[in-house]
Amino acid sequence: MRPAIDGARLIARLKELGETGRDTEGRLCRLAGSDADKAGRDLLCRWMHAAGLRVEIDRIGNIHGLWQPGGAEGDPVMIGSHIDTVIDAGIYDGCLGVLAGLAVIEAMQAAGIRPSHPLALVAFTNEEGVRYAPDMMGSLVAAGGMEVAEALATIGTDASTLGAELARIGYAGEREPGFLTPRAFLELHVEQGPVLEAGALQVGVVDTLQGISWQRVTIGGTANHAGTTPMALRRDAGVAAARVVTFLDRLARGTAGAVATVGTLRLAPDAINVIPASAVFTVDLRNPDDACLRDLEAALETCLDELRAEGLAVTTEPLARFAPVRFDPGIVATIEEAATERRLTWHRMTSGAGHDAQMMARVAPSAMIFVPSRDGISHNPAEFTDDSALVIGADLLLDVAGRLCR
Ligand code: GLV
Ligand code: MN
Ligand code: MN
Repeated sequence: MRPAIDGARLIARLKELGETGRDTEGRLCRLAGSDADKAGRDLLCRWMHAAGLRVEIDRIGNIHGLWQPGGAEGDPVMIGSHIDTVIDAGIYDGCLGVLAGLAVIEAMQAAGIRPSHPLALVAFTNEEGVRYAPDMMGSLVAAGGMEVAEALATIGTDASTLGAELARIGYAGEREPGFLTPRAFLELHVEQGPVLEAGALQVGVVDTLQGISWQRVTIGGTANHAGTTPMALRRDAGVAAARVVTFLDRLARGTAGAVATVGTLRLAPDAINVIPASAVFTVDLRNPDDACLRDLEAALETCLDELRAEGLAVTTEPLARFAPVRFDPGIVATIEEAATERRLTWHRMTSGAGHDAQMMARVAPSAMIFVPSRDGISHNPAEFTDDSALVIGADLLLDVAGRLCR
C-alpha cells in the first residue's frame, strides 16, 4: 500500500498547536523557554509518544522522536523544524515542518513500511531568536556551531537565562546535542514570501539560503530639556538612530537582493519632553551573496563612524552571523524527481528566511521544501496556507523521506 499523509489529522494538529500558548490578548507568542513554549512542547511530546516514538531531549532542549522499527539500521533520516514562534505569530512557521515530519512517520507506520534506516523527528529550540540570540540556536548547537554551555548562558531580552528557563519548564534534557548524526535532514516550511503564489506554483525546491547578519547598535547622546535646548546644541540619540534606519532602508533598496530591517528600537529615558540620551536598536541584514553581505555591514559601519565623528558614542554587538548555504544537490534532485512524479508545479528557489536546515547542512546532506504563503505574509497572525497546499507539501516530504530511508 502506498503511504499517504493523514491530511485531516495534520491540519487538526496544526490548529490545536496554533491555539496553544496564546497570551492574554489572544496573540500566539511561544517564545523559547516560556510557559507557552512548554505548553506547545508538552502537546508535541504527547503526540510523539502516541506514535510510539522514543522521545529524547538534549541539553539545549531540542526534542527528538526516534522511530526505529525492526530491520532499520544506521544513522536516521531526520525531519523537523521548530515550534517556537515570534511575537504575535501565525500558526504555520516551523510547526508545519515538525507536524508534517510526525505525519510522515505515522503514514509509513500505517502503510506497514519497513525502512532500512530509522527516522528521527526533531523540534529545535529557539529557531526564532526573538528572546535569545542567535536564531536557529538549537540546530546550531546540535551542528557543533556553538558550545552548549554558551548557548545555555544566553541572556534574553527580558534578562532571563535560556538554561534556567529550559530547566524551569522541564526541557533541559540530558542527551548531548548532536547525539544523532543524521544521514540526511529534511525540512518542510511555508515559503513566508510571495514567489510561489505569484508564479502559481505548488512547491518550492529550496537549493540555497541567504546569509544573515544580526547586530545590536547602541547610540549614546545627551539627555536635555526639549524646550530649552537649541537644535544646534543637541546630541540626540533618537535622531541619530532614525538616520541609521533611513540609511539602511535606502542602502538595501539600492542593492540587488539585499534586505535590511530595524525591528526593535528603544529610546531612553523615553519621555515626551526629554531629548533621548540613548537609542538601542537591532539591525537584520541579509543577502544571498556573502561578499555583498559584507559590503552591507561595512556600509553600516561607515554610517556609524559618521555619527561617532559628530560626538555620539556608538557601540555595536554582533548577535548572529551566518553565511549563505547551498543545500545538497542530491537531495534537491530527489525532491524535484518526487515533485515531477506527483505532477506538481515546482520551482527551484532561495530561502529568504533563516531555517534549521541551514545549520543542519553543516553536518548532514540537507534540503527544504516550501509551500506557498498567501500574500507572502509571515511573522504575522495573517500567515496562511491552504490546507490542500499543506498536505501536498507533506505528501512530497513523505515521498522524499521514503526514498532516503530506503
Ligand atoms: C527566522 O524566522 C528568520 O529568518 O529570522
Ligand atoms: Mn521557521
Ligand atoms: Mn520564523
